[in-house]
Amino acid sequence: MIQLGFFIEILSIEKYLSEGKKFIDGSLAQFLPDESAYPKSIHESMNYSLLAGGKRLRPILVIAAAEAIGGSRDVVLPFAVAAEFIHTYTLIHDDLPALDNDNFRRGKPTNHKVFGEAIAILSGDALLTQAFIVMTNGFLMESVPRGNVLKAAHELARAIGSTGVIGGQVVDLESEGKPIDSQTLEYIHIYKTGFFFKACIRVGAILSEANQDQLSALSRFGSHIGLAFQIVDDILDITGDEDLLGKDVGSDQDRNKATYPALFGLEESKRKAEELVEQGIANLGEFDERAEPLREIARFFIQRTF
Ligand code: IPE
Ligand code: IPE
Ligand code: MG
Ligand code: MG
Ligand code: MG
Repeated sequence: MIQLGFFIEILSIEKYLSEGKKFIDGSLAQFLPDESAYPKSIHESMNYSLLAGGKRLRPILVIAAAEAIGGSRDVVLPFAVAAEFIHTYTLIHDDLPALDNDNFRRGKPTNHKVFGEAIAILSGDALLTQAFIVMTNGFLMESVPRGNVLKAAHELARAIGSTGVIGGQVVDLESEGKPIDSQTLEYIHIYKTGFFFKACIRVGAILSEANQDQLSALSRFGSHIGLAFQIVDDILDITGDEDLLGKDVGSDQDRNKATYPALFGLEESKRKAEELVEQGIANLGEFDERAEPLREIARFFIQRTF
């Protein structure tokens, strides 16, 4: 925060995100088996993708949602870290030759390029499992009612299964090279990316004992900005800078993917993403300045270049 007088504070989103990233980066190791733990290859591979970088937006959103309703980041930290484990697993698998067949991720060769396909698959499996180990470790969550811990874990699980991220990934793959309609395209983007963002926000809120109205408003916010995020990801696959993004550019076109720019063009896609973010933020009207990070993260989703 930049102090601008007695009561006015302006949130610097860059600073907020870089501090959030630092906090998450500094916390990951305590929730992971040691890199040298036997069998070494799998732990090295998990650490490789996890520590390669990444914006840490999902864990930051868990924390920002908690703080928006007066919760604390230390309390939700295990779930924030678990969200990053899950996200990193989806990236490792998304890059595999059988899926998007990409070479670069987070500024480094993709996991399977370094460790081979078998270890890459297993390290995704292990990261997903590690997320559930961390979320259900009662000792980490002493200050949260057990019912809420269960609810939050269920929430994340629902967002990433075959009626969530995996469902979206399946339709994404099955739509390659085919003519696409806007309904299927929206399904892909909401399911492969949007649901998980929404779940991260809901998890932070649930663990911080949000009431039903707060939870509903945050859900609507999450749905809107989650879809916007993937639209912008599609746009950046065309207009982005490979060094800044740290991943392959042009990969969607190479694989004839169902993307927003492919169906609507760049300008219209950008307009849609902006509209979604504005509509998303409009749901936070009842929240005070503690929700400002959420609003700013939403704006960052469409302004980002990486
Ligand atoms: C990339 O997510 C995958 C998508 C859902 C589009 P991010 O852009 O959040 O990737 P990292 O975590 O910063 O590497
Ligand atoms: C990613 O969609 C969705 C998930 C990883 C679940 P993309 O395939 O567009 O993501 P990038 O562009 O490879 O990061
Ligand atoms: Mg993909
Ligand atoms: Mg991909
Ligand atoms: Mg993409």
